[in-house]
Amino acid sequence: MVMRIGVIGTGMMGCEHIRNINANPQCVVSAISDPHEEPLEWARQALGADNSVAEFRNHQDLLQSGEVDAVIIASPNFTHHDLLQDVLSTDIPVLVEKPMCTTVSDCVDVVKLAQQRTALTWVGLEYRYMSPIARMLEVVRSGELGELKMISIREHRFPFLQKVNNWNRFSRNTGGTLVEKCCHFFDLMNLIAQSPPIRVMASGAQDVNHLDEIYDGERSDILDNAYVIVEFANSMRAMLDLSMFAEIGNNEQEIAVVGSNGKVEAHIPGPGHIYIGNRSSRELRKVEAAMSEDVAYAGAHFGASYIEVDKFVRAIANNSAPDVTVNDGLWSVIIGVAAHRAIDEQRVVEISEFNLQM
Ligand SMILES: NC(=O)c1ccc[n+]([C@@H]2O[C@H](COP(=O)([O-])OP(=O)(O)OC[C@H]3O[C@@H](n4cnc5c(N)ncnc54)[C@H](O)[C@@H]3O)[C@@H](O)[C@H]2O)c1
Repeated sequence: MVMRIGVIGTGMMGCEHIRNINANPQCVVSAISDPHEEPLEWARQALGADNSVAEFRNHQDLLQSGEVDAVIIASPNFTHHDLLQDVLSTDIPVLVEKPMCTTVSDCVDVVKLAQQRTALTWVGLEYRYMSPIARMLEVVRSGELGELKMISIREHRFPFLQKVNNWNRFSRNTGGTLVEKCCHFFDLMNLIAQSPPIRVMASGAQDVNHLDEIYDGERSDILDNAYVIVEFANSMRAMLDLSMFAEIGNNEQEIAVVGSNGKVEAHIPGPGHIYIGNRSSRELRKVEAAMSEDVAYAGAHFGASYIEVDKFVRAIANNSAPDVTVNDGLWSVIIGVAAHRAIDEQRVVEISEFNLQM
């Protein structure tokens, strides 16, 4: 049976998901919802001429339409908490875009709500499916690097793009750059460390981007560069180096994981392979990591969001557990919030300060 998917929020990411679904024979877009006309028109264009999807201005109407077997939430970050409250009170499986919510307490609410139902709740942290990163994770899990010690993630990229109604120009809407964007990298750190983060140190600021952008009399307050250090309970340490005014360079992301026996390096978009260094043999191997031919639509995330939707649909069909859970969503946000707190208060932030009650 072809799965009918509703897309809530049809801006940039919603349209990427529409194209992911279009390219996948297991599923079809059956409904879309967005309060604004222009993104609905983008969705119609993404759907193509022969579409007959139900259109709504309000997500509640979509949820109650009987037209969907599953939904994807791709609305602005600050709307996720309220939308999830509504979706999680149904038995409709959901994939919610990252960050799961903009605050730790909202994420905790979502974790609790998701625990009360059996339908799938999946969080859109898809970097783990980018082929160089997926290949790197296999090496990390193989034990070949010895005891894992250090993770280094550098993202040097272009400034934030313009969004519908400029919602991403204010930290209160996004959760802050280290939540909005960097939850992807903190999720990778958590995935590699396989151990809870215990403290966070950070330095960062808004130094270059959006400084002269005023919206309704208010200046944009989006951090554009930072260093973040995370310590994990198993004594691993990780570092994020973020610059959002560094688009002229070799790679957007450069990731290295170092263990007692060696090191693995992955570059995005990269050359289609990763490097594995072995300290005993002193050998540096180049290992194939090109995007799989099974990816029918590459989108803006090197095929990762196509793989994500494909896995989401298969998990619903097979009644299996999500790859990316609400707990993953929560822990990726906690590190981002802790990093912002470390910057704002110029101190080391202990994760125990969040006093999680779950
Ligand atoms: N996984 C990734 O790598 C990735 C990449 C980009 C964006 N995102 C996430 O996707 C989400 C959307 O980002 P975007 O870049 O598409 O932004 P966007 O501004 O292009 O699109 C957001 C859309 O949501 C609509 N919207 C607002 N309130 C809504 C509501 N209550 N119900 C339904 N729709 C509503 C807006 O009208 C707009 O069309 C954000 O959470 C963002 O963080 C994820």
